Parts: sequence; C-alpha cells; structure tokens
Amino acid sequence: MESGQASKTAMRVAMRRAAHQMIDHPLVFEDPFAVRILEPLLSVDGHNYEIKRSKHPVSKAFRSYMVGRSRYAEDELALAVQSGVRQYVVLGAGLDTFGCRNVNSDLNVFEVDFPATQSWKRDLMSSAGIVPPENLHFVPVDFDKSKLNVELQAAGFDAGAPAFFSWLGVTMYLTIAGFRQTLEMIGKLPKGSAVSFDFSMPRQSLGSVERMALDALAKRVAAAGEPFTLFFTEEELAEEFKRANFERWEFVNANEMNRRYFEGRTDGLKLVGGAARLTTAWR
Ligand SMILES: C[S@@+](CC[C@H](N)C(=O)[O-])C[C@H]1O[C@@H](n2cnc3c(N)ncnc32)[C@H](O)[C@@H]1O
Repeated sequence: MESGQASKTAMRVAMRRAAHQMIDHPLVFEDPFAVRILEPLLSVDGHNYEIKRSKHPVSKAFRSYMVGRSRYAEDELALAVQSGVRQYVVLGAGLDTFGCRNVNSDLNVFEVDFPATQSWKRDLMSSAGIVPPENLHFVPVDFDKSKLNVELQAAGFDAGAPAFFSWLGVTMYLTIAGFRQTLEMIGKLPKGSAVSFDFSMPRQSLGSVERMALDALAKRVAAAGEPFTLFFTEEELAEEFKRANFERWEFVNANEMNRRYFEGRTDGLKLVGGAARLTTAWR
C-alpha cells in the first residue's frame, strides 16, 4: 500500500459487487448498500470499468470470485453468530458494507483498514447519506506497522470474548511478519473464535492455466501500486495455523465454491480456476 493513499483495489472489488447487484440474477451475494456507497463514482470513466465490462467472460469470472468470497465469509459469520459470537472484525474492510446491513443489534462490528482507505470510505458513506450504526466501530490500522490488538481494544473490542474475523483480498498484499502478527492475535482469543480469508497459491505450485490467470491478475494489481507479496500452499498455511494455536481449518477451492453457490445458473456466472483459495480456521 502506498502511504497516505486509499486502496485502488478496494474500489475495484466494490465495483464488482455493485455490478453483481445491477446485472446478475439470482444474486449470490445480496448487498443493497453496494451500489449506494459507490454512487458518486459509478459514472466516472476509469472507475466504472468493471461495470462497463461486466458481460465479458474474464470480468464475470472475477466478479464471481469476489461475490463468492464475500458470501462464503458471511455464511461462516452467520454460523459463528448462531453459536453465540457477538463480535465481528472485518480486516482490510475496503468498501465492505456488512456494518450497515447488520441486523443483529447485539453484534458489534469492527472495521479495520489502512487509514487512508478508511477515511476515503467514510467520506463516500457520508456523501451517500449512509449514517454508521452505533455498533459499527472504525479502527484505522496498518497491519505491517501497528499492533492490531491494542487498536481494537481501544475501539471497544473485548479480547476475553470470542470473535469472528474476515480478511478478504488482503493477505496477498502483506509481509509475512504482518500476516503472522494478525493470525497470532486471533489465535490467542477464546475458543469459538475463527477467521475466514482468501490467499494466493505460489506460482510454482500451479498448473499452466492457473499460472496464466495469476500472472494476469498480479500484473493488474501491481499496476495499481498494490503488488502481491505473500503466497502460501495449503500445507504452508496449515503450519501457520498450527503455530498460531488454531485447532482446525478447511480449504475451499473454485470447484467447491461453484458447488456451493453457483450450481444450476444459466448466465455462466462461476469461478474459473485461478490461484486463489478460501479458508476458515477455528480456535
Ligand atoms: C482488495 S481490497 C479488499 C477490500 C475488502 N476486504 C473487500 O473484499 O472488498 C484490500 C484491502 O486491504 C487493505 N490493506 C492492504 N494492505 C493493508 C495494510 N498493510 N494494513 C491495513 N489494510 C491493508 C486495503 O486498504 C484494502 O481495503
């Protein structure tokens, strides 16, 4: 992340979620705020590329992945809430709108993000007339520099109670030290805590088609000033989970995502291979 600059990739992901609401039926991921929060940018050339190109097969594949991963994380969150969790931390929140859609008044939501991205988001919310609910807490943090636990607790987070974390589209931009510091913090929380996130597999572990997809995406994000820096195989990540005190975990690939969320569609919306995987790890 460039210092003092809001994340450009956060806007692109949000544009894809907005395109999903505007174009795709049925919805895989329902988000009535996705379009609203982007209102001032929707008609700006250069920003709305993902909407203009939304029928292109490559655009559809990326959009499927972005909405699929949000759905996956929120499905895991719902299970955690059912079992009594009352704290949700959205790490690297970007323009994620769960905090505004949250129907559980006793579920506290903590949005953690790079300070410049967060202040840009708050400006967009204010322009759209979106008033943050009382149980939505903003926590500006650079994962590579600040202590997440200190900042979270200063914002009212209870480290003595379980929490669910999502960390979507972020780990691939971090240093290994920043990644471990965050994972270790979650691993010290009480049982019942969990984290869902996506990660990128290393280039050398991929087949030729997946490698081409990774190269194309890596080129785009690097051009936006946010190059991929961190990669894991499933075996390497399992070691990270063990080190950080997690008890069990799952890995979810594109085929499983398609089975869960995209089966029976006639519009061709589905994940197409790629280097990304989803995971949830439980304490
Ligand atoms: C691709 S966006 C994903 C945003 C959001 N999770 C979503 O799915 O829409 C990446 C997010 O990670 C955040 N990020 C990247 N590096 C970070 C860092 N070192 N500290 C805090 N946030 C960071 C960016 O500000 C941005 O919001």
